[in-house]
Amino acid sequence: MRTVTPQAYRTVIVAIDGPASSGKSTTARAVAQKVGLLYLDTGAMYRAVALAFLRAGIEPDPAEAERVLDALHVDVDHDADGAMRVTLDGEDVTEEVRAPEVTRRASEVSALPAVREKLVEEQRRIAAAFEAEGGGVVLDGRDIGTVVFPEADVKIFLVADAEVRARRRRAELLEKNGEAPPLEEVLENIRRRDAQDRAREMSPLRQAEDAVALDTTERSIEEQVEFVAQRVRTYRAAA
Ligand code: DC
Repeated sequence: MRTVTPQAYRTVIVAIDGPASSGKSTTARAVAQKVGLLYLDTGAMYRAVALAFLRAGIEPDPAEAERVLDALHVDVDHDADGAMRVTLDGEDVTEEVRAPEVTRRASEVSALPAVREKLVEEQRRIAAAFEAEGGGVVLDGRDIGTVVFPEADVKIFLVADAEVRARRRRAELLEKNGEAPPLEEVLENIRRRDAQDRAREMSPLRQAEDAVALDTTERSIEEQVEFVAQRVRTYRAAA
C-alpha cells in the first residue's frame, strides 16, 4: 500500500488590511515569522510603480498609466532572513521606495485602475507561488480581504487612532533617520493618505465584512502579533 505523508499543516492565506501606519507590515512580517509563512508587502509593489513614474517623470493619470505599465516589471523575493525585497525591472529598490516623495506618489498611483489591475494580478500570482513553496502567505495592504483574496482564511483589519499612528510613525522615523518632521506634519500626512485611500473609486480601503477588527491603539506589537498568530493556529488546527 502506498503511504501518503500527510502535510503537516493546511496552507493558509492571511489578509491584513488597515490604514497608513497602523502597524500592518510590522505585524504581518512578525506573524509570518512566528507561524512559518512567507510575507508579501503589497504596499511595496505600489511604491515600486510610483518610483518608476517619478523616475520617468510620468504624471499619475490613467492614459499615461495604460501607456507605460506593460513595460514595467515589479517583483518580490526574500533574503536569507526572510525579509522581503522588491525589485523594479530587476533592480532592488526596497530602500528607495520608502522615500517621502515615493510615499506621496504611491497614494496617487494606487488610485489608477490600470495600476491596481496589474498589481492585483501579480499579487495573486506571487501569493500562489509562496503558498506552494512555503505553505502559506501573509499579505498586507488595503484591499487584500476585499479584492485580492476575498476567500482568505484569516482576515484582520487593523485600526488605531490617527494620533497614535502619527506618534508611532514619528518615533519610527526618528529611530531610523535621527530626525523627523513635527508631529502635526506627520499626522496631516497620515490623514491625507487615509482620505485618499478611503475615497478612491476602485478598491477603496474598507473592512471586509468577515474581517476581524483589531484595535491596536492600546496594544503592544507583541500582543497584536500573538492575536493574529493564534487565529492562524486555530485555522490550522481545524484542518
Ligand atoms: O502600506 P504602504 O504605505 O506601503 O502603501 C503604499 C501606498 O499604496 C498607500 O498609499 C496605499 C497603497 N496601497 C493600496 O492601495 N493597496 C494595497 N493593497 C497596498 C497599498
